[in-house]
Amino acid sequence: NAAAARLDPHHDIADIDRRLFGGFVEHLGRHIYDGIFEPGHPSADDEGFRTDVIALVEELGVSTIRYPGGNFVSGYRWEDGIGPKDERPRRLDLAWHSTETNEVGLHEFQAWLDRVGSELMLAVNLGTRGTQEALELLEYANVEAQTAWTDRRAANGRETPFGVKMWCLGNEMDGPWQVGHKNADDYGKLASQTAKAMRMIDPGVELVVCGSSARSMPTFGAWERTVLEHTFDDVDFISCHSYYQEQGGNAQEFLASGVDMARFIESVVAIADAVAATRKSDKRIMISFDEWNVWYLHNEEGGQNDKPAEQGWPVAPRLLEDQYHALDAVVFGDLLITLLQHADRVRSASLAQLVNVIAPIMTEPGGPAWRQTTFFPFSITSRLAQGRAIRVPVESATFASAAHGQVAAVNAVATLDDEGVSLFVVNRSTTDAATLRVDLAPLVRALGRPVEVVETHLLHDDDLYAANTLGEPGRVSVRRAAASVDGEELSIELPAVSWAAVRLA
Ligand code: AHR
Repeated sequence: NAAAARLDPHHDIADIDRRLFGGFVEHLGRHIYDGIFEPGHPSADDEGFRTDVIALVEELGVSTIRYPGGNFVSGYRWEDGIGPKDERPRRLDLAWHSTETNEVGLHEFQAWLDRVGSELMLAVNLGTRGTQEALELLEYANVEAQTAWTDRRAANGRETPFGVKMWCLGNEMDGPWQVGHKNADDYGKLASQTAKAMRMIDPGVELVVCGSSARSMPTFGAWERTVLEHTFDDVDFISCHSYYQEQGGNAQEFLASGVDMARFIESVVAIADAVAATRKSDKRIMISFDEWNVWYLHNEEGGQNDKPAEQGWPVAPRLLEDQYHALDAVVFGDLLITLLQHADRVRSASLAQLVNVIAPIMTEPGGPAWRQTTFFPFSITSRLAQGRAIRVPVESATFASAAHGQVAAVNAVATLDDEGVSLFVVNRSTTDAATLRVDLAPLVRALGRPVEVVETHLLHDDDLYAANTLGEPGRVSVRRAAASVDGEELSIELPAVSWAAVRLA
C-alpha cells in the first residue's frame, strides 16, 4: 500500500518537554529489590546497586522518574525508609500483598538517580495519610532552614535539600482498589488543601493532581471535572494513566491503542479547558501521563496478574513480569508517537515501569540484565526526539477497529532541532506493508539546504510474538530501515506491524 505525507516545519505542535521521557519506579515485586538493588550481585556497586542495570537505564534515556508508587504509595510511611538501615521497620504492603523491608528509601533512591542521571518526581500518600505527612516529607526534602526534619535529613547524610520539583498528590484515588480510595469531591478537597499548604512551604513545586486511572473508568470525565473544580488554582498538571494489551488474539484491534490514548488526552484537555472557561481563566492545566505502557493485566479467564503466587507476604515476589514481544513494541512505539503528537499539553509522562515490573529492562538474580522489545522504541525516541514536535498528517489505507471506527494504518510525527529532523512512523496494519513517501519540499525550503538520511531504525519481526528472554536476550532488536531521499522526497518501506525512526540532516 502507498501512503503519503508532508513534512512542513511550520506545522509545529510545541517544544518537547524532556519530562515526556520519564519513567516510574515503584516498590513492587522485583523492581527495587533484586532489580535495581541487589547487593550480592557481581555487578553491584558499594551501595548495592547493579551497575549493569544502571548502564541500561542510562542507555534508555529516562528524564524524570516517578517514585515510590503507584498503589504502594497509598499505604506508605516515607519515614520508614530513612535513618539507619538496621532500625528500619518491615511493613506489610497491602497494595501488592508483600513485605516491604525498607532497605531502600528516599536517600538511597536519590543516590541511584544521581548515578543514572535522572530527576526525582515524588508521590505523597493521600490514601492512608493526609496534608500533615505530605508537608513533613516536603519539609524534609526541600527546605533549607534548620528544623527538626531538616536536622534529621542532615543526620541521615544529606545537608543540602533534595530539591524535588514535581510532586504527585496521591495515586489513582479514583480506583476502588486504592487504599484510601475517595470520591471526586473528597479527593478534590484534600488535594486542594494539601497543594495550598505545600506551596506555603515551597512555592516552586509543580503539582500533579490525580486524574482517572483509565479512560474506561465509570467515573472518567466527571472525576476530572469535579477534581479540577476543586484544584484548578492549586495544581499544574492532571494525571492520565493507561495500559493496553492484546485481547482475544485480536492484534489488529490492539494496534489501534494509540487512537485510544489520543482520545484520552484530547478528552482530558477538553475538560480542563472547560473548567478554565467557566472560571474565565487563561491558565492551562497540563497533562502528566504518568503511567503508560502495554500491560497484560487481564488474562483470558478474566483474572488479574497482580497478586503474588506465593502464600503469605513475600519479599520481592515475581509480580507483573510481562514478557514483551515484537507486536507489543510496535504498539508501544505508536504510543510514543501519540505522546509527541500532543506535546503541547502532555508536558510530562512516565513509562510504567522500568525494571522487571512491566518493564523495558529485565534482570535475573545473580545473572544478566537484558533489554525487552519495548526498550528500543523508547531509547531511540528519547535520543532522537529533540527540539520541537512537528505534525505529520498521513494519507494511508485504513482498517476497521471495533472501538475506534476506521483507523489510519500509518501514523507519524516528526521533531525538528538545530542539527536536523527525526521522523517516527508506525505501520499498524497486520496485513499490508506500506511505502510511505514524505514530501520534504517545505522542510528543504525552510532549511535552505537539501537533507539526507543519516540514521534509520526498523522494529519488525515476522514472528509478532518473538520476545527477548533470559535464554535468548538478543532475539528481537532493531535493524536498519529501507529509507532514502530522492530530491525532495523521502521514502520508507514499512512492513506490516512495524515501527521506524529516520534521522535526516
Ligand atoms: O504500574 C502498576 C500499577 O498500575 C500502579 O501501582 C498503579 O498506580 C496502577 O494501577
